[in-house]
Amino acid sequence: MEKKKVTIPQLKELKQQGKRFKMVTAYDYLLASVIDKSPIELILVGDSLGMVVLGYDSTVSVTMDDMLHHIKPVVKGAPNTLIIGDMPFGSYNVSINEAIVNANRIMKEGGADCVKLEGGAVMVETVRAIVNAGIPVMGHIGLTPQTVSQLGGFKVQGKDADAALKLLHDAQKLEEAGAFSIVMECVPAPVTKLVTENLSIPIIGIGAGPHCDGQVLVTQDMLGMFDRFVPKFVKQYGNLNGIIMEALQKYATEVDSGEFPGPEHSFAMKEEVLKKLY
Ligand code: KIV
Repeated sequence: MEKKKVTIPQLKELKQQGKRFKMVTAYDYLLASVIDKSPIELILVGDSLGMVVLGYDSTVSVTMDDMLHHIKPVVKGAPNTLIIGDMPFGSYNVSINEAIVNANRIMKEGGADCVKLEGGAVMVETVRAIVNAGIPVMGHIGLTPQTVSQLGGFKVQGKDADAALKLLHDAQKLEEAGAFSIVMECVPAPVTKLVTENLSIPIIGIGAGPHCDGQVLVTQDMLGMFDRFVPKFVKQYGNLNGIIMEALQKYATEVDSGEFPGPEHSFAMKEEVLKKLY
């Protein structure tokens, strides 16, 4: 049976029913079309694109053009999966008007179903304005990679009581502003539990423990493809780099030895035509 795209209201119902859901990232048509055939309900075209695909050192330099270029093929490849388009740094921190313009671009030009942006209570007016413009917004709190310089590095957030209560406050403010869901990144599991239990919208965790309504991983991390560094919270469900390297080595050896291409991968010619050539 073909997978049916989950709707935003259904995500809240899943939370109410205590059913967990899954999100992974994708940045191209091919991977999106594989994910579309899997039981994963949501695809995030994340600005992790910058680090995983474009080779940048952080997500800060990712542009709207980068995002749109990658959201479009994912939307094409995964018609039965809810697609979240990430708003890159600089696309929503200049003014609320600019934030609405860029969120509109992600929906209209990119074709995403909704947008995601980073930040807690400080982003409330921006989130409210985008939601009022008719665009569903997913929040993102805890470790927010776009503001990693302000945070002093890629560190676990919410470790003391004040910081944990601030995260709860941030999440509550985002819910009040109309966010339909929130990603919590790199937060101690008991803090995510507190937030998940106190909010009626679903919380999606990454490095945030088991008590969330949903989980998200960067696909290239979980498939063992991105190996510049492997965060503690990543579980590698495959070793695609190993498989790819093995195939490349075999191909190289067979080309060097002349074993590839064999007759089954080559095109023949009629004898009488051949006679005219040799
Ligand atoms: O950009 C991204 O991939 C993300 C996830 C890590 C949640 O924001």
